Amino acid sequence: MTDTLTDPIYKTDALIAEDIDAYLKVHEYKTMLRFITCGSVDDGKSTLIGRLLYDSKMIFEDQLAALEADSKKVGTQGQEIDFALLVDGLAAEREQGITIDVAYRFFGTEKRKFIVADTPGHEQYTRNMVTGASTADLAVILIDARKGILTQTRRHSYLAHLIGIRNIVLAVNKMDLVGYDQAVFDRIVKDYTEFARSIGITAFTPMPISGFKGDNITGPSANTPWYTGPALIEHLEMVEVNSAADADKPFRMAVQWVNRPNLDFRGFSGQIATGSVRPGDAIRVLPSGKTSTITRIVTLNGDLNEAVAGQSVTLCFADEVDCSRGDVIAVCDNPPQVADQFEATIVWMADEEMLPGRSYWLKIGTQTVTATVQQPKYQVNVNTMEQLAAKTLELNAIGVANLSTDKQIVFEPYEANRTLGGFILIDKITNATVAAGMLHFSLRRAQNVHWQATDVSRDFHAGLKNQKAAVLWFTGLSGAGKSTIANLVEKRLARMNRHTFLLDGDNVRHGLNKDLGFTDADRVENIRRVGEVAKLMTDAGLIVITAFISPFRAERDMVRQMMQPGEFIEVHIDSTLADAEARDVKGLYKKARAGQLKNFTGIDSPYEAPEDPEIRIDTADMTAEEAAEAIVARLIP
Ligand code: ADX
Repeated sequence: MTDTLTDPIYKTDALIAEDIDAYLKVHEYKTMLRFITCGSVDDGKSTLIGRLLYDSKMIFEDQLAALEADSKKVGTQGQEIDFALLVDGLAAEREQGITIDVAYRFFGTEKRKFIVADTPGHEQYTRNMVTGASTADLAVILIDARKGILTQTRRHSYLAHLIGIRNIVLAVNKMDLVGYDQAVFDRIVKDYTEFARSIGITAFTPMPISGFKGDNITGPSANTPWYTGPALIEHLEMVEVNSAADADKPFRMAVQWVNRPNLDFRGFSGQIATGSVRPGDAIRVLPSGKTSTITRIVTLNGDLNEAVAGQSVTLCFADEVDCSRGDVIAVCDNPPQVADQFEATIVWMADEEMLPGRSYWLKIGTQTVTATVQQPKYQVNVNTMEQLAAKTLELNAIGVANLSTDKQIVFEPYEANRTLGGFILIDKITNATVAAGMLHFSLRRAQNVHWQATDVSRDFHAGLKNQKAAVLWFTGLSGAGKSTIANLVEKRLARMNRHTFLLDGDNVRHGLNKDLGFTDADRVENIRRVGEVAKLMTDAGLIVITAFISPFRAERDMVRQMMQPGEFIEVHIDSTLADAEARDVKGLYKKARAGQLKNFTGIDSPYEAPEDPEIRIDTADMTAEEAAEAIVARLIP
């Protein structure tokens, strides 16, 4: 998924790389509009896209090459290209599933160049549509004049609006098949107006077209004398692109890297997200809040007197203020906010469901932090816009949830700033992009709860007990011997006058965690809570021993990060499934095999063994007493 999010940029870069001179000459004075087409093959989407490519009369050789490389179906040259063949090629790609994901097409006119993201229309491709829409300035919502507004029209409109697309074209297609009847068009526009208002779309541009016949594509059609608005391509050429709208907003730039080739030069490079900047402007670096003044705006083509949204520049300051990758440089008297708890809309894009409480990487602007999402407040039915209760989010689900980050991040509501308000979540182990999201606002409690400094420190607590706090984190299959060995370890430590506490899975699940079962989500929450308790106990100076299956690497790593360096000792009680099952002290394996116990670890629920534990106990190799002795020797040499 990461690739497709950056795909348009990648492809443009490829074009530039191929023939830089020709590319620059043609495009020098043109803006670029990115748009998305929503609808299905039935609505005439391929025909419309084919029509746009064909009628724009400016399919450049290099763009054609890209198209050709994409489809292998469109083999004709330049202006000779055959319309029917082109459409067939586009439609065939879709039908054969060659472009299941987002397909990007390039074309241009005298006034503008265009990238159109062609995404599949079905609900199971919601994530693809969101990906395609994430960089779009405009959405063409395609309607079959014979059918009017359908469920998918509503879904696509909702998604386009959600992603922040403010230019919506309602393309009422196949007008030739309804005799260019104005009444049909007017009725559809009226229906859509009502619906649009209900989801917060305040403006849209309706047009009666025929992709097949070419009506109102490049210019006014004689078949619709009653329509006085612009033709589709005219509109696409005129409409304001995001970067133009962004230029009027307050100045913000996320720092991509610090440029320090020698001691005399120190600059901060990035792409301006919103607003403009000039030498002499007072700026503020966030999250630190430090201020300075811009002295220079440096680019490869020399210094600038002004730079605006969309440009990539290097900024120099008058003072030596701290500023590094991930920081945001903003206009001094109107900076963005800084917070670590938010409400957000989340679009889940992974096959595995969201796990509330799990740590994911959150990337926003140039910042990367650790984030956990809480149980959703609700999920949205994307066909009816109803809000439904939900415990998690599955593939293509869209929901609203609170999330918290481990560090303060600089942000703006997505509505105001797509760069500083839009984020993705990444699985820490597989590195796959699992979600895209939009920040609404920070939670006020983030501002009102402060850390209370206490005078009796954690070191003092441990000192009183004559020991160093530690966590011996046992992990392993059910029946591997975790509880037995943990118990022996605690007895040995007690004999050595150490202050310990044993947290055992079965016991904690009788009290603190009695509301939790054995789904992935509940296990994540189980370990999160136990981690927090273990953390408090190390603050109290104790040696904490925990005995939980803790089947997921992600949560064990999360607890490791919560502790002081060196304090977390992972102990893998390593037994084969066959051995654990043969022992079956509690008779649970037998039940699980008989299908009476669901989600049993090792049977129908995964166990992710530690890759590099501090201690590994091979239960086939030693007795429980020997294991306990080895563990204590490692803790107290
Ligand atoms: S964990 O996966 O969330 O870390 P935990 O260690 O708290 O699990 O609890 C595991 C204990 O619960 C097992 O030792 C076993 O006695 C009991 N148990 C009951 N059902 C299951 C199950 N489906 N999977 C694993 N253990 C289970």
